This record gives sequence, structure tokens and C-alpha cells, in this order.
Amino acid sequence: MAQGDAVEFAHSGGLAATKRLTRDEQKLLGQFMTPPAVAKFMARNAIPRTFGPIVRILDPGAGSGVLAAAVVAELLSRPAPPEQIAVTLFESDERLVPMLRRLAARLRHLARIRGVALSVAVRHEDFLLSREALSRKSVADVIIANPPYFKISARDPRAVAHAFAVYGQPNIYGLFMAVCADLLAPGGCWCFITPRSWTNGLYFRAVRRHIFRALSINAMHLFESRRNHFTDDKILQEAMITWGTAHAAHSNHILVSSSAGTRDLDTVKLHRLPASQVIDTGETHAVSLPTADSANPLSEWNATLATYGLRVSTGPVVAFRASRYLREASSDQTVPLLWMQHIKHMCVEWPIGKKRECILANANTAWMLVPNINLVVMRRFSPKEDRRRVTAAPYLSGQLHGPVIGLENHTNYIFRPGGSLTTEEAKGVAALLNSAVVDRYLRNIAGSTQVNATDLRRLPLPSMETIQAIGRRIPSRPSLQEVDAIVQAELFGSVDVAEVA
Ligand SMILES: C[S@@+](CC[C@H](N)C(=O)[O-])C[C@H]1O[C@@H](n2cnc3c(N)ncnc32)[C@H](O)[C@@H]1O
Repeated sequence: MAQGDAVEFAHSGGLAATKRLTRDEQKLLGQFMTPPAVAKFMARNAIPRTFGPIVRILDPGAGSGVLAAAVVAELLSRPAPPEQIAVTLFESDERLVPMLRRLAARLRHLARIRGVALSVAVRHEDFLLSREALSRKSVADVIIANPPYFKISARDPRAVAHAFAVYGQPNIYGLFMAVCADLLAPGGCWCFITPRSWTNGLYFRAVRRHIFRALSINAMHLFESRRNHFTDDKILQEAMITWGTAHAAHSNHILVSSSAGTRDLDTVKLHRLPASQVIDTGETHAVSLPTADSANPLSEWNATLATYGLRVSTGPVVAFRASRYLREASSDQTVPLLWMQHIKHMCVEWPIGKKRECILANANTAWMLVPNINLVVMRRFSPKEDRRRVTAAPYLSGQLHGPVIGLENHTNYIFRPGGSLTTEEAKGVAALLNSAVVDRYLRNIAGSTQVNATDLRRLPLPSMETIQAIGRRIPSRPSLQEVDAIVQAELFGSVDVAEVA
């Protein structure tokens, strides 16, 4: 049995349980289950750097146990797992208890295979009123949670019991965060997935003050997507994960990352920001995070290629079908055929001594050839190691000989049907496509090294005036640094978004 199975097993049990609930019941019980990819991501970074022979794991609102399962799987996958793992699972809904017991049996089995003794205590009770929560003594080395979220009255016994973390009307998740910050052994890991609302405002100030006193915050991850087609429960919308270490010297830096969802977790960029830039050390203890809007200017652009009457197509020459028309050398019957190798960042180089870089231009091939007018040409694939997702170049009319040119099928090109791009437009669009700003955006939405025509059609663009202004400033054969500097300057003045993000 693979170790990941326990996570999937827990998750499917959880989904089966919540499917029986109406959306309102689900909200009332705070039952939104963590997708396995997120549980594993949380767990990977929630294991203490060093641990003793026993590791104690606590999940205070276990649901079907997916988070604890992910931590156990992670520990068992380490070259030197602990000798013993003790898991404590709190869950107030008795319908989930049998599921947790089944999961416990599976985890014990997996641990035994690895030679690790594992015990699971399933506690069917309200965590916030448990003796552990009330005593606030150290009981765990790892606390991992996706706590319930709903408001409770300030007179609720749970709010009264933890009044230190209450200001105004509390949300139950803030109480879970604050109480758990006290239950860790020194060096223990605290990992919570929550909404972002706790990071600001008066109502959560007591929670923040408490957490930041008890923990050193190591990392935060934001889910930025507003479209949640990839989640089971839509919980990722505007959600965030926070990792902290108990009783540790406060770190000077915090790793901040963001992703659209779970699919792009492997490609997200990490930003190591000074802790003082992220957490206000003054009275508010507010957290400032680069939001989707500030980190990603594209989210504010409403135009696309279609807005400007531009279209994107794939190069029509399919080499193996057109092979009898392809030629090694140019003659007065041929025109240049651009393969993706001819396209570099911001310039087209032809010929390059590549095989079959010419194509016959005659009545038979006319349909697959493109007028020799201003275009933006780009590679359909970029090597993994390439610095940018898109390799695009302006192609200017007459740059190569002939009334038409050939574009091989591994290229895409942008054109204006029934007209032509101006030089400024071609240079401006190409520069944007090669820029670091667009690169960051595409890396988030396109998981693979391929940027397809659909991605390009959906790509948000700034105003045409901005595109033209960029195009006017682009010299011939600019470096990527020059492109970035010009794009940055036209979009943001001279601010470097890499610093902001
Ligand atoms: C948001 S769900 C998350 C479940 C699971 N940890 C996961 O990540 O999929 C929160 C869980 O906490 C449980 N819960 C709600 N209030 C609780 C309380 N006061 N004490 C213990 N569990 C609670 C809910 O029934 C629900 O199963």
C-alpha cells in the first residue's frame, strides 16, 4: 500500500461525508475538506527540522483526518523516521468518528511496515473546551489544521474560555489558531490553512498579537485564484497557509509564495521578504501580503488580442505533409520558411543553416503561406531551462524576401485579419510577451512549457497606447533586460515588480 493512499483514503471519506450535507449544513459545521495536494504541501513544510524519537501530531478539527494522514505519510517517507508517532485527532461531529477510526487502522499498518510504532487517539469532543486547550500546555510537536470558520458570539463558552484572543465578535478559526500556538513544544511546527481575514483589522488583532508572540512565522502561501475549478470544496478561494515555529528566535525573513491553485504549486516563485515588511511590528500586528492585484498587474487589464482586432494562429506549414514543397536552398521560386529555431527573443534570424528552411511559393502552397506583413511570431514550445515561457519576436514586413512567407507548425503568429499590425504594435506586443511580467503570469496559468494559442487569446493586455509606447522605445535586437526595463517603465513608472511581488 503506498503511503499517499492514506491521504487519498481520508479525503475520499471526507468528501463522501460532506456530500450528504447541504451547503448550509456544511457551513454551519465548518466542514470544508482539504484537497490532498494541499494537505501534502502543508505537511511537507510542517515537519520540525530535527525531531526526537517521538513525534506528537495534533489536528484540532480533524474532519476525516487528511492533514494528519499527510504528516504521518511525510514522516514515514523520511530516511530516518521517528521511532514513535502519536496522533491526536479532535472532531466534534460524531458522524466522522468511524471514518477517523478506519484511517487510524490504516496509518498504524503503514507505520508498522516502516518499523514505526504509531498510536491514534480519536477525541470526539469540542477541541476548544478540551483539557488540552484549556490548560494551554505543550502537548504536540506538529499541529496542523484546517479549522472550522464561522462567527460565534462573544458569550459563547469557547470565546469566554479563550478571551485573550477575542475582540468584538470572534470567528472560531481565530481561536483555534491562537490556542494552538500555545500547545507546541519548543521548535514544534504550527501549520494552518485559513481565510485571509485574520491578517488585518481590529477583530483579529488579539489573535495576531498572540500568535506572533508565541511563534516565529517562517512562511506563508496564498491561493490567488478567483476561479476555483480545480478544488473540491472551493475552500482555496483567497485562502492562505501559514507555517510557524514555536519558541524560536524570530526569523528576519519570511518566505512568501502564491499560486493560482494546486496545479501550479511546483512552479510558484518564492519571495524571501524581510519579516518587518510582512508583519507590522507596531500596534496593529497587521500582515501585508502581496495580493493578486498588487503582485500581478495583469489582473487589472481587461483587454485581450481580440479587443485590438488581433488574432493568433498556429503556423500552417505541417512539415511532413508539405515535405515535397520544402527546400534546402533558396531560389527565385522559394520563400523563407520560419521554424521555431529561427525565432529568438525579440528577433527573427533567417537563414541559420537549418535543413529545409525554404518553401516553394506556388499555387499549390499559397493556402499555407502567410502575407509578408508585420506580425508577431513565437515558438509554441520553450525548453524547460529557458528563462522565459514565451519566445516571441516582431516580424516586420519585407524583413525577408518574397510576397509571402512560410510559418512552420511549431510556431504561433499574431496578425490583424484584413490589415497589418503597425511596427510599434508588433514590437510592443512582442516585448510584452517576452517580458518578466507576462512570464510570471503565464507560469501561473500554464503548467507545462507550452503556451498555446488559447492561453495567448486569454492573455490580459494593457491599453493599446501603452503597447505602442513600449513598441516605440524598443531598439533593434534588444536584450531581455532592456525589454524588461522598457516594459516596467511604461507599465509602472520605474518600479520593479519583482521587488513588490
Ligand atoms: C474545515 S473542516 C477541516 C477538516 C479536515 N481537517 C480537513 O482539512 O479536511 C473543520 C472540521 O472541524 C470540525 N469542528 C468544528 N468545530 C469543532 C470543534 N469545536 N472542535 C473540534 N472539531 C470541530 C468540523 O466538524 C470539521 O470536520
